[in-house]
Amino acid sequence: MNILLTGGTGYIASHTAVVLIKEGHKVVLFDNLANSDISVLDRLEKILNKKISFIEGDVLDSELLSKTLKEHKIDAVIHFAGLKAVGESVENPLHYYENNVGGSISLIKAMQKNGIKKIVFSSSCTVYGEPQYLPLDESHPTNPINPYGFTKLFAENILHDLSISDPTWSIAVLRYFNPVGAHESGLIGESPKGIPNNLMPFIAKVATGELKSLKVFGNDYKTRDGTCERDYIHVMDLAEGHLAGLNFLEDHKGWYAINLGTGQSTTVLELLQAFEKINHVKIPYEIVGRRKGDAPACYAKPSYANKILDWKTKRSIELMCESSWKWESSHSI
Ligand code: NAD
Ligand code: UD1
Repeated sequence: MNILLTGGTGYIASHTAVVLIKEGHKVVLFDNLANSDISVLDRLEKILNKKISFIEGDVLDSELLSKTLKEHKIDAVIHFAGLKAVGESVENPLHYYENNVGGSISLIKAMQKNGIKKIVFSSSCTVYGEPQYLPLDESHPTNPINPYGFTKLFAENILHDLSISDPTWSIAVLRYFNPVGAHESGLIGESPKGIPNNLMPFIAKVATGELKSLKVFGNDYKTRDGTCERDYIHVMDLAEGHLAGLNFLEDHKGWYAINLGTGQSTTVLELLQAFEKINHVKIPYEIVGRRKGDAPACYAKPSYANKILDWKTKRSIELMCESSWKWESSHSI
């Protein structure tokens, strides 16, 4: 298949590109480089030993998208492009709605114009909001607690309404839990701009010495060790989940919301200790107050994905920590 990856030079898309190309698909990356670097392209070409098509552009530019879809004879799209910083979405909600919701509409219109009706959408477990029960299954009510979460839910709903108005669309909405880790080569990985908000990239930067110590946000939760539990998923498992999603859409029409997680929960301290042990490094930390909006625990029931996508995560927490460190230590020291 010819597959367009919007947000193609980003963290999750670049790893997915590796999996898709290795499987024999032709991939076109489309990105405005708002949160990624063009050097990702060289690195991907090194991993794959192949030239990769890249178009610098904004998903809000429906004309350019339409031209790209036509010229590259695209069969399916994976829509990764989006802004994802929760705090920034609270400060600048309009920008987030315009980019994430407006961008999705612009893409869908371009696809419609070209008769392309197969799409995988990057959604998030954040659409569930504060868990009412655990593990989270796909029937859990959706109730985002910040503008970023709403942009994901609105885009999901737009795709849902579209599938009702035109049942010939094939749509997989993938709700990721906490993607971490990097490709085994250490050539691509997550590189947030500025000080990371998220746990794994923060730990990795403490390990390099770039940041002094980790602030653990609260140890008074009702969890195993008092710190928050999350469902960390290796980005390569996630990438394989996209391939499985595309395969599923080959012979399924309609709209499907699917959790991509491991079903295992790991606390902040457990992740920190796993990172120290596997990488033989010390991560200084201090316990500080809770972060506003954090749920004590959040993890998936992944059985729907296991069943309908015939997909399962394979990689351990240790491998997530090892690959994150390999990536961080090779590009920042
Ligand atoms: P990322 O920032 O590394 O990748 C997103 C890419 O989209 C970036 O390269 C950015 O430049 C590009 N982009 C943003 N707006 C664009 C626009 N208007 N036009 C063209 N390109 C644009 O983030 P990621 O972690 O790879 O996330 C990919 C997707 O998965 C996002 O939609 C994100 O919301 C979603 N998601 C991520 C996580 C996570 O924790 N990483 C969790 C759940 C869902
Ligand atoms: C983040 C996103 C959420 C997204 C989810 C999945 C935020 C605020 N939320 O949530 O929208 O859907 O990832 O990828 O970015 N922690 C520390 N110290 C730190 C950083 C984090 O103790 O410096 C703790 C947090 O309190 C949390 C855990 O580590 O308990 C994981 O945090 P993070 O990596 O930010 O992920 P989420 O909060 O799950």
